[in-house]
Amino acid sequence: MAAINPVAELTIDGEVATVTINSPPVNALSQSVRDGLKRGVEAAAANEAVKAIVIICAGRTFIAGADITEFGKPHAPPYLPNVLDLIENASKPVVAALHGTALGGGFEVALTAHYRIAVPSAKCGLPEIKLGLIPGAGGTQRLPRLVGVEKALDVILSGTPFGAREAKEWGVVDELAEEGKLHESALAFARRLIAENAPLKKVRDRSDKLEPARGHPEIFEAIRKANARKFRGFEAWEKAIESVRNAVDLPFDEGVLKEREMFMALLATTQSKAQRHVFFAERQTAKIADIGPDEPIRPIQSVGVIGAGTMGDGIAMNFLAAGIPVRIVETSKEALDRGVAIMRRNYENTAKKGRLTMAEVEERMGRLAPSLDFGALADADLVIEAVYENMDLKKSVFERLDGVAKPGAILASNTSYLDIDEIAARTKRPEDVLGMHFFSPANVMRLLEIVRGAKTSKSVLATIAGLAPKIGKVGVVVGVCHGFVGNRMLAERQREAMKLILEGATPWDVDRVIVDFGMPMGPFAMSDLAGLDIGWSAETSKRSTIREILCEEGRRGQKTSAGFYDYDEARNAKPSAHVEEIIRNFAASKGVAQRKIGDAEILERCTYPMINEGAKILAEGKAQRASDIDVVWIYGYGWPVYRGGPMFYADTVGLTTVLDKLREFEVKFGDDFKPAPLLEKLAAEGGAFSKP
Ligand code: 3HC
Ligand code: NAI
Repeated sequence: MAAINPVAELTIDGEVATVTINSPPVNALSQSVRDGLKRGVEAAAANEAVKAIVIICAGRTFIAGADITEFGKPHAPPYLPNVLDLIENASKPVVAALHGTALGGGFEVALTAHYRIAVPSAKCGLPEIKLGLIPGAGGTQRLPRLVGVEKALDVILSGTPFGAREAKEWGVVDELAEEGKLHESALAFARRLIAENAPLKKVRDRSDKLEPARGHPEIFEAIRKANARKFRGFEAWEKAIESVRNAVDLPFDEGVLKEREMFMALLATTQSKAQRHVFFAERQTAKIADIGPDEPIRPIQSVGVIGAGTMGDGIAMNFLAAGIPVRIVETSKEALDRGVAIMRRNYENTAKKGRLTMAEVEERMGRLAPSLDFGALADADLVIEAVYENMDLKKSVFERLDGVAKPGAILASNTSYLDIDEIAARTKRPEDVLGMHFFSPANVMRLLEIVRGAKTSKSVLATIAGLAPKIGKVGVVVGVCHGFVGNRMLAERQREAMKLILEGATPWDVDRVIVDFGMPMGPFAMSDLAGLDIGWSAETSKRSTIREILCEEGRRGQKTSAGFYDYDEARNAKPSAHVEEIIRNFAASKGVAQRKIGDAEILERCTYPMINEGAKILAEGKAQRASDIDVVWIYGYGWPVYRGGPMFYADTVGLTTVLDKLREFEVKFGDDFKPAPLLEKLAAEGGAFSKP
């Protein structure tokens, strides 16, 4: 065995040379990995005793792609395309041996080898689209040559990895190895190739799978149409389609060259920078400043949920899906039965779409124990309260829970706004209490705000932070304040949206601007969906706000087929002239002069106060880092990932621009726009919220 460089070594077993890459955590294609591959293959090729070459990786995975941390920095040689040419043009068969996740550039390395072998658990994929990119090392040219245009585009546009068995079926992988015995299997395979004098199979030379697409541009048009909605606002996907089309229309070398050009151009876009920011931001959230990896974790083997309403149901479903039994308690049989029926219907609908089997539905429902007895929570390792948003009710529920839950159980509230410390104070174990703020629908939305109370113990926090990914959530630790991070910032946008319609913008103008920006829906469509009567009561309503007037008129949102919008039976929204009139009259009664408001002002007034609030949240230590706030908005509210979250977006707009506009608005519209000191400081320093 000989070291090639610090991350690569060469071993010779008879006639087979093995180049092993060992660059934890994921063997990404850093300069030293590229160098190791190049020199390893060169040395093996130059050794006359060697008749075949195996490329394999140590650790948890085959090369998982380009080294994303190197993007945007000056690149040092050897360059990936040259390394790939070297592999493909080797005079002896090269076998790529795959385990873990052969992704992006890693999969592209494998595609230049003459043969591929994989353990059954291995996965292959081209996830570049998730980083606002297209494959940049031949992936768009080679994969279609192996699997055809449609399958290749499916892989490239979804970014979703596929398993080794599928890869074998599709002809991407030549052999499946025995699990855990990849190297032995790869050596045996290589020896067989030598014995059979097997040809040097180059994917680039194939064209049979491209034939069905030749002269059929409508294939690409159909794919474009099918994906238009999903990719609204994203730049990279059109390029991916164009590049795969080049595989059909152009000679290989030209296609690769064009692919590289598009890749490099996309690398420089704000969108790709934003998506790369989100990739790392998501992984940062798991790191809690004062909690080390040795913090003891409490086992969570059973969960209790209090309240089988909208949120309780969704919360329970997360655990059932993760294989964790759930006891759910309610105050009435009707509420309990309704909740259980909704969960079942939800799972059955998923099964109808083919994403679950009926046996899995039964398995999940079998883990659910509904009860009217609070005592049923006694054995749970974690209890999550999801009763009505009412402080007195929550306090009494926690008092009761304190009397029932076993020692060491973690007690969580799903409150949207209320003070966790006040709730915790009603128990004799405030160190075991924290907030677990799920987002609706809780079985779908990936965000979990983990609300750290003043007394929450580190082990409780570490346990819940570790639990989040197990139930498919991205957990973000936030501090106690009204609305925590997400809803506190949302309140800023909702306030401005209401002011804007009073001043002359229509609800549809505001919604259109926000949707064009990339959010899934605007503030008024969102209010209609949630119900305008949340927190409204007929007894105290005095027609003192637009919302009160709408509620009094029975326009309470989608559920009453009318809110800000009118709705038909299919819940399609239509702007309402009547609502415009209500707003006009209300503005007149308040002496507010209406004017025409441009789209730029709508966007700035909706987003800049959010950014300003984000700066306050950071300064108060209610979020650990700006990128955590970005993650909250992306996974909790559908902020467009290609804009990187509100704080990253502020950086791309320029903090001075944001600050100047806030100051201008402060003069025109008052204190709501008073700039946060942290924003002023960063702007003065020429700084940014996001750390490079
Ligand atoms: N470059 C640099 N760092 C990477 C990386 C990459 N491609 N992939 C993962 N990492 C880092 C992560 O940031 C994380 O670092 P941290 O421990 O400091 O937070 C660490 O490796 C472990 O990653 P995960 O926590 O994500 O580990 P998992 O085991 O959950 O997942 C994975 C492993 C499936 C490989 C996942 O990390 C992943 O999807 N990585 C990105 C893969 C990718 O996008 N590849 C394509 C890159 S673009 C490209 O190849 C261009 C080419 O076409 C030219
Ligand atoms: P909901 O009204 O749909 O459900 C509340 C349920 O709690 C009802 O089924 C009720 O019967 C039950 N309940 C009331 N008192 C109880 C008690 N003492 N013991 C057991 N069950 C009891 O309310 P929803 O929307 O599920 O909200 C629950 C909590 O989640 C609130 O704190 C809310 O602020 C929060 N939340 C709501 C979100 C939403 O979008 N609906 C999003 C995130 C958090």
